[in-house]
Amino acid sequence: MSRTLHLALSAYGVGGPGQHGLWKDPQVPKNASIDIRYYIKQATIAESALFDAFFIVDSQFINATYPAHYLNRLEPLTLLSAVATHTTSIGLIATASSTYNSPFNLARRLASLDQISNGRAGWNVVTSFDSQVSKNFGLDEHLDYATRYGRAREFVEVARGLWDSYEDDAFPADVERGVFLDPAKLHALNHAGEYFSVAGPLNVSRSRQGQPVIFQSGVSEDGRNLAAHVAEGIYAPGGSLAEAQAYHADIKRRAAALGRDPDHVVILIGASPVVAGTDERARARDREIYEEDNDFDRKLAFLGRSFGAYDFTQHDLDEPFPDLTHLTERGRRGGADLVHRAREQGLTIRQVAEAASEYRPGQFVGAPETVADALQHWFETNATDGFNLRFRTIEALENFAGTVVPVLQKRGAFRAEYESDTLRGHLGLPFPINRYTAERELTRVTA
Ligand SMILES: Cc1cc2nc3c(=O)[nH]c(=O)nc-3n(C[C@H](O)[C@H](O)[C@H](O)COP(=O)(O)O)c2cc1C
Repeated sequence: MSRTLHLALSAYGVGGPGQHGLWKDPQVPKNASIDIRYYIKQATIAESALFDAFFIVDSQFINATYPAHYLNRLEPLTLLSAVATHTTSIGLIATASSTYNSPFNLARRLASLDQISNGRAGWNVVTSFDSQVSKNFGLDEHLDYATRYGRAREFVEVARGLWDSYEDDAFPADVERGVFLDPAKLHALNHAGEYFSVAGPLNVSRSRQGQPVIFQSGVSEDGRNLAAHVAEGIYAPGGSLAEAQAYHADIKRRAAALGRDPDHVVILIGASPVVAGTDERARARDREIYEEDNDFDRKLAFLGRSFGAYDFTQHDLDEPFPDLTHLTERGRRGGADLVHRAREQGLTIRQVAEAASEYRPGQFVGAPETVADALQHWFETNATDGFNLRFRTIEALENFAGTVVPVLQKRGAFRAEYESDTLRGHLGLPFPINRYTAERELTRVTA
């Protein structure tokens, strides 16, 4: 089967990271992040444009400096359950933390979404970025990397085990014989591992796609290993074309080394296209968007997020950048590289904040043909298998759907109709046969 481009929509309301001024836009309702109709509208447009999935990111820690969308937003599984009832084909991917959930509860909620949506659920497994979130769950400190990623791997294993509790033909519901359940097709997991003890069985059966699709977002060594072991999809940061190509090759190599088919780990990088009638107008709009969001104080505050919501205003901003490496140990190791570079180059806090937020022309900016060219180029040069797209407004999404998508379709680079109506089907992932059914089949064949 030829490789095809995958598109997801990462939905926001009043402005996520880097969109500090979006809430002021007259096109964006001030309650967009908690208005389910705003999400349903986005999902139905994305579905009409034949997108693979509708994607919801999440976190469970805020302070008053966080982006407007983070301050007041809906819980992803609740949100997507409502969206599921207004859509029929598009995949629905919810971000949920493996660090601050228990496997039985989360497996049940995801299985419920998979049933409500008739086989369209996905779980973006995160180990949680905001280290201060631990205090919302009775812990003084965020769990360390090894524990977080060890837990994540076992968590997914347990969830997958629970999702197989019922074989697909477990419910004969035969009124004449008076048999609702065939008890031989119900299985307790009896998991006892390093982090979890879960007996099972789960009280929700499998959906048409067998199990929810596992996504992952994490770029450290531990993050990549988790992805190689368990992820069927990855939400990855883009960076430059060369960085994306290196990441793509690395993940595919790691998956293959574990005996997995590399095509069964679908990488979507984050992208924010800006489309206008001409390249020149789109470039001007890209710059204008930067200026609208260019609020130094908010950007400085957001820089603190990589360091456990660190408040830089306690320093003179013209002081050398402080050594905050210890604050990155648990939250985000990428923050340690930033400290290292800043200190090596002798930069002040102000310089780091300005450099982190300086204008960089977008990679997917231009007239529809230009944006389609860029998306296709990244796909064809193995920088990615697709994109998790972010738009500022519903109008911008509609514009992309009405102008760029048809160009991609005309070129045969994107589907002209849904080839399936499950998330697994859209992503070209195999149907996971229930483990107990597979075992029984194997015993029958070898007997
Ligand atoms: C593209 C991308 C998206 C992410 N989305 C979320 C998210 O929605 N919620 C969250 O808590 N963490 C999110 N994370 C953070 C990861 O779960 C992880 O905690 C963090 O990246 C640190 O781990 P790492 O060093 O392995 O990347 C995201 C990370 C990346 C790279």
